[in-house]
Amino acid sequence: MLDTLNTIDETARTALSAADSVDAIKAWYNAHLGKASELQGILGSMGTLSKEDRPIVGKNGNRIKRELQAAYDARLVELKQAEMVSKLSAEALDVTLPGRPIKRGRLHVSTQILNEIYAIWADMGFQIYRSRDVETDEYNFQLLNFPVGHPARDMQDTFHTTEKDVILRTHTSPGQVHAMREFYPEPIRVILPGMCYRYEQITSRSEVQFHQVEGLAIGTDLTFANLKGTIADFARRMFGKDVRTRFRASHFPFTEPSAEVDVECFICGGKGCTVCKYAGWLEIMGCGMVHPNVLRNGGYDPEIYTGFAFGMGPERIAMLKYGIKDIRYFWGNDMRFLEQF
Ligand code: DAH
Repeated sequence: MLDTLNTIDETARTALSAADSVDAIKAWYNAHLGKASELQGILGSMGTLSKEDRPIVGKNGNRIKRELQAAYDARLVELKQAEMVSKLSAEALDVTLPGRPIKRGRLHVSTQILNEIYAIWADMGFQIYRSRDVETDEYNFQLLNFPVGHPARDMQDTFHTTEKDVILRTHTSPGQVHAMREFYPEPIRVILPGMCYRYEQITSRSEVQFHQVEGLAIGTDLTFANLKGTIADFARRMFGKDVRTRFRASHFPFTEPSAEVDVECFICGGKGCTVCKYAGWLEIMGCGMVHPNVLRNGGYDPEIYTGFAFGMGPERIAMLKYGIKDIRYFWGNDMRFLEQF
């Protein structure tokens, strides 16, 4: 019996040293130590053995089983280790390779210009007042001194909604009345940025949507001189410290007097170039002293208060600044355009 056990032991050890992978050693385990193995068979049938064989098998069989189990455990660790090492070297990472850059998002060119404009006006004491995109005819026109049927409305073709007199704002000016009604009787220094909408044929110079930045200052002693000085200061901060401004008489229903502001062409310095069409000047905004009717509509008595307002188009400024020839690029979602800023 002892011979049988020793043969089992020897065969198992030879097979174990030949097993050279984790899979092979697991198969070895089933064959030599598993339930169906010869050794387990002998250990499981002790009851049928003769008196002499029983202690021999009990002692040696269990010793062999323990030793084989220990040899198996040790070999398993070895093989697992070896497999890990070969896997690691096969999948070796070259950590000296430069990383692949992650694609980063960027701010839209309009947002960049808006941020520049906000920072300048913030520096000059103007806070941002947000006003709604969906307006009523009353706020968008009537309270701004455009009566129903006024020809100036034709300049701002309007998107109507299915709700009567509810429209998309055609300019940021209706925010003036919202701000006045909220701040009365305090003095006001605000800018009103936002998207505007016009039902216009889309061309290289006009889009159905665009930003405006409106400005409003109300106080008891504001004059046209304050308007001129403030806007000239803005232009110097935005376009260069030596840039000159020019005010041309104009008309808006909600300001009186009204003006359009030109800055000296910041591309050619006023000498004349294709951007300024050899005029030397670029138009950047409309402005004026707030009309008494508008002050009244906002709750401010025009006998006591005066104010000035202005409105500019950041996309227009971006077009001038970067030489963008077509306003449709702004909302065309073409990465080749957007990635340039
Ligand atoms: N709302 C005018 C427009 O869309 C722009 C404008 C002109 C705004 C003069 C003003 C202003 O506040 O004083 O054409």
